[in-house]
Amino acid sequence: MTPPIQLQTDLAGLRLANPVLSASGTFGSGWEGRQFSDLGHVGGLVSKTVTLLPRHGNPPPRIMETPSGMLNSIGLENKGVDYFIAETLPRMRELQAAGRARNGIGPRIVINIGGESIDDFVRLAERFCAAGIDLLEVNLSCPNVQEGKLLFSTDPRLTERAVRAVKQVANVPVFAKLSPNVTDIIAIARGAEQGGADGITAINTLIGMAVDWRKQRPVLGRTIGGLSGPAIKPVALRMVYELARAVPLPILGVGGVRSADDVLEFVCAGASAVQVGTSMFTDPALMFRLVGEIEQRLLAAGTTIGALRGALHRQPGSASNAPAVGGCVR
Ligand code: FUM
Repeated sequence: MTPPIQLQTDLAGLRLANPVLSASGTFGSGWEGRQFSDLGHVGGLVSKTVTLLPRHGNPPPRIMETPSGMLNSIGLENKGVDYFIAETLPRMRELQAAGRARNGIGPRIVINIGGESIDDFVRLAERFCAAGIDLLEVNLSCPNVQEGKLLFSTDPRLTERAVRAVKQVANVPVFAKLSPNVTDIIAIARGAEQGGADGITAINTLIGMAVDWRKQRPVLGRTIGGLSGPAIKPVALRMVYELARAVPLPILGVGGVRSADDVLEFVCAGASAVQVGTSMFTDPALMFRLVGEIEQRLLAAGTTIGALRGALHRQPGSASNAPAVGGCVR
């Protein structure tokens, strides 16, 4: 009998049942999606960004479908850290416990935090680390706040300072979620590395807009928004590939994933694990299904997730064949 395919994945020292996680902002905390599939089987659940205080978010309309994608301008709407820790985190733990009873791990609890200042990030990290979570994702890259300024994730020094401050209080791995809206994402990732980040999440959304010419105005209430979905997958893949080549940190790949092949492409490019986002709005059982489909694909190809990870960087003639490569390409 063929042995089962091993999908367990190491993410900065954290063991995941498999490399499939939700992407922040696309699946609530997981609890909201629990009736669609068995979330105990997925690798991790990533919360919508949590801020210190409640936020109402941006004026509507806040989302719009585009060809092969979606524009959003939510503006980090959430009920704030107190509510989250009291009401939402216990539900994530419930989902985790159900999964743990079956595969010994359950979905890892990843909390995405957002702040307007370094002090905000530190206070959020302290609260969540004291409450008990598995991994912190520091959202340095939301395009829908601060009057369109991507304050932290367009400046390597600010990225470094924010990550360093969070690392000083964190007792779990810290991943920096970076923006694609920069000339050189590697410079920003190096800032995160200097600050002590345990990993990089790449990428957040691409800044875009939509226009209603009949009304002669932008479609989104805040004019600009972030583009996600299959339309951005080639950009995300390229950035994950370049990051894996340049920065010795594990990468959580995100951007346009909707199939098992997409997940395996990101892994091949150097991602340690992959987040699934926009496609879950139309297919909320997608993450769960992907886990089984990845197993089937690997079996059919006669390979393993470990053998595939970072494989692009080991190809003869690959630009990154010789140089030191990221933590995921060892
Ligand atoms: O507008 C939003 O809440 C989006 C957040 C993000 O892209 O990080």
